[in-house]
Amino acid sequence: MRINENFNKLRQNYLFAEVNNRVKAYEAGGKKAIRLGIGDVTLPLPQAVLDALHKATDEMGHSDTFKGYAEYEGYGFLRRAIAENDYNGRGIDIGYEEVYVSDGAKSDTANITDLFAADNAVAICDPVYPVYNDTNVLNGREIVLMPCSETNGFLPEIPDKKVDIIYLCFPNNPTGQTAPKEYLQNWVDYANKTNALLLFDSAYEAYVREEGVPRSIFELEGARTCAIEFRSFSKTAGFTGVRCAYTVIPKELTFGGFNVGQLWSRRLATKFNGVAYIIQRGAQAVYSDLGKAQIAKNIDYYMNNAKLIREALNKLGLPTYGGKNAPYIWFKSSRPSWDTFDTFLNDAGVVTTPGVGFGACGENYIRMTSFGSLENTMEAIERLASVKI
Ligand code: MLT
Repeated sequence: MRINENFNKLRQNYLFAEVNNRVKAYEAGGKKAIRLGIGDVTLPLPQAVLDALHKATDEMGHSDTFKGYAEYEGYGFLRRAIAENDYNGRGIDIGYEEVYVSDGAKSDTANITDLFAADNAVAICDPVYPVYNDTNVLNGREIVLMPCSETNGFLPEIPDKKVDIIYLCFPNNPTGQTAPKEYLQNWVDYANKTNALLLFDSAYEAYVREEGVPRSIFELEGARTCAIEFRSFSKTAGFTGVRCAYTVIPKELTFGGFNVGQLWSRRLATKFNGVAYIIQRGAQAVYSDLGKAQIAKNIDYYMNNAKLIREALNKLGLPTYGGKNAPYIWFKSSRPSWDTFDTFLNDAGVVTTPGVGFGACGENYIRMTSFGSLENTMEAIERLASVKI
């Protein structure tokens, strides 16, 4: 027996595990840090979701409403609610059977790689959400990095080398930047022309405020023949601890005679027994009138935090990126990211995320999230003002 030695090619710790280790060491002395590092929500679940969860839990206690194994691709009631509200209601033609419910966009963006041959070249941004890189490194695929910097507005250019799979995430994690329509259209055209696949992570689409900023890759002409989209209830509706997400695979998406949706269904049936009925009922409630109103309020709350963070950093003379259509604020400090991270943690008791943890091009940058409470966000801002950055 031999271990998958590609593990040697990964950093020893997953980024957020390393952040946690340092926070634990800081708190070991009895101090409590303010967490604006990992993008984890703090507001409790919306009441509409809670009510649906309770109701579904009660159903599980009666033999006539009890449910065993869930459907692999998700229950029709949730798949329909997603297609109607997130797509059809916004003028995008997606059928409910093209929606596949899962336990998270993190798992889906990683698990989707089961479908692809090992010799595909995979393009990812630098900096990037580490999951796209790490899973493909583990599978032994060639990674083509696409540098993102102030110079290109954090919008990666199409690589010179032919690539087969491209991960894009907009609104972006970690930079918080969004991509204009014409820019995304170039990627769709490139993918269609070169027989490449776009993996589009739009987990943060609910944070888009500005008119005209695309929220879905399927707003672009031609995307149905080259793209898969990943979305999540985590950041939209506070499901980070509940777990529910979905992936959209258009029926037309085929490569080498294989239908990608059918392959994904086959994979789900082989390795997954579906998301719990109770959780899917909770997710369905996100689309009720009450659910929509409560979620909008929570997102407003986080976006107000984002504004406060941006303004405070700008006042300190630090230009910021993101935070306008995304819950992440990205800014440059004059020192290596981990040094700044340690200073923020040890001198101010504020947890951030070091940009270099997302890739070499993230060096010197820091990411802050707006997912804290208003009180903690204000306290963190005040403390950071007195720290040497
Ligand atoms: C992040 O902080 O980048 C995200 O919360 C991580 C995740 O969604 O897995």
